[in-house]
Parts: sequence; structure tokens; C-alpha cells
Amino acid sequence: MLKDKVAVVTGASRGIGKSISLALARQGAKIVAVDVTLKGMDELLAEIKSLGSEGIAVEGNVTVTADTETMIEKAVAAYGRVDILVNNAGITRDGLLMRMKDEDWDAVLTVNLKGAFLCTRAASKVMTKQRFGRIINIASVVGQMGNAGQANYCASKAGLMGLTRSNARELAKRNITVNAVAPGFIVSDMTEALPDKVKQEMAAQIPLERFGTADDIANAVVFLATDASAYITGQVLAVNGGMYM
Ligand code: NAI
Repeated sequence: MLKDKVAVVTGASRGIGKSISLALARQGAKIVAVDVTLKGMDELLAEIKSLGSEGIAVEGNVTVTADTETMIEKAVAAYGRVDILVNNAGITRDGLLMRMKDEDWDAVLTVNLKGAFLCTRAASKVMTKQRFGRIINIASVVGQMGNAGQANYCASKAGLMGLTRSNARELAKRNITVNAVAPGFIVSDMTEALPDKVKQEMAAQIPLERFGTADDIANAVVFLATDASAYITGQVLAVNGGMYM
């Protein structure tokens, strides 16, 4: 479905970004895997190869303008184009409002929101020339419903949804769609470490009675990257088991 397409995925070395990279590769896309660390990248590139596709790893920080330009240049140098951008890199620095440090606010807003802006600005120059692009931003259910102790994170993810809609309006005439995926609670290193009781309480808030998986998110991203979603732009696709409707 994505043969001859080139996808840049940020935060690709592990977790949801890794699953997204593999799911896009499974559909034939060539992967430009970007992360601040190259740890795990050899394994990722080997897995991509075993799926019959190919990719390159690029060390880069989404908060550094020059890095975002370089990652797009490297994609074009390797494969000649950039069809898909997945803004997945994200961090948390949780804390209650009254105790939240300025630097924790700035760090989360800078990676989660400014990072997506910088990568989108760099990629959109190439996509505009191509008259084709699919930009997918990984938001979060808590950007829709809020969460105590995550003022910075929720604000960044709500901001990402606004950025999604604004960019969708601006880029539509160039045949570039911009959408967001808002994951609910996803099985990850972070959620695995929680006590069973807490996990059960969290699952009880979810109508489908389970945490999501990274593959649940990756499947939604694949949909938004393919022609099956060609008439969808500016939307937030919630993948949360029904916990927020
Ligand atoms: P993770 O922490 O396992 O992976 C994030 C990746 O982003 C890491 O490889 C990290 O090195 C990279 N990264 C961090 N800062 C970066 C920067 N400045 N430049 C480039 N790369 C950077 O996180 P996970 O769980 O895989 O989350 C991926 C995305 O999904 C994030 O945007 C997160 O906010 C979002 N999300 C995750 C949920 C969950 O339950 N795990 C739920 C909802 C949203």
C-alpha cells in the first residue's frame, strides 16, 4: 500500500515510534528513523529489512531547527522525497501545578509542540513541491480530557491538536493532509511498571476493558498515511478504547 513512499518518523528508536516505523515498513514504506539516541536503531533497521523494506537512522533532536532541516535533507538524499511525517517524539515531566518548575513546562512544550512545528515546517517545503504529503501528529487523550499532574503535557498535546487543524487548512491546497492520533492508555514501559491494582483501576475506566497497544496506534497511523484516508484532514483520531468520547 505504501510502496515507493518515504516516511520520516521521530522518536522512532523505541515504543510507539518503533511500532509505527515497523507498521509503515510492513506496507512497503522506506523509513527515515529519527531519534536523539541511536540506541536500538540497528535492531530497528534489521527488522525493517526483514519486512522487505529499507531505512536509515538519523540522530537528531526535534527541538533543534538545524537538526529538523538535516533530517529532511538526509531523507531526500537517501530516497528523493518525503511523503509521510510522523511527529511522535514526546516527553513527560509530570508534577502538580503549584510545584511545576519553569524548566519542566518549557521542556515538555518545546519537545512535544515546538518539535512538531519545526519538523512540519522542514518537511512541508519538500511536500509542497511534490504536491503530496501526509503529516500525522501523535497527541494524547489527556490533551482532550486533561489530567491532574500533567499541566505541561496536556497543554502540549492540546496545542498539537490546534497545530494539526491550522496546518491542515494551510497545506490542503498542496494535497497535504494533516491529522492527529490521540492514544489513550497504551501498554508501555511506563504503564507496565505500575502496580496491578492501579492498572486494574485504570482499565476499569476503559469501555473496551484493556490498555491499548503500540500496534493499535500504529494501525491508525497507517490508515492516515494511505490513500484510504485521502479525504480526511484536520482530524483527531481517538484510539483510546472508548475512555473519552
Ligand atoms: P517513549 O518515551 O518510549 O519514546 C519516545 C521517543 O522519543 C524516545 O525514543 C526518545 O528518545 C524520543 N525523543 C524524546 N525527545 C526527543 C527529541 N527532542 N528529539 C527526538 N527524539 C526524541 O514514549 P512512547 O510511550 O513510545 O510515546 C510516543 C508518543 O506517544 C509520545 O508523543 C507520547 O506523548 C505519545 N503517547 C504515549 C502514550 C502512552 O501511554 N505510552 C499515551 C498517549 C500518547
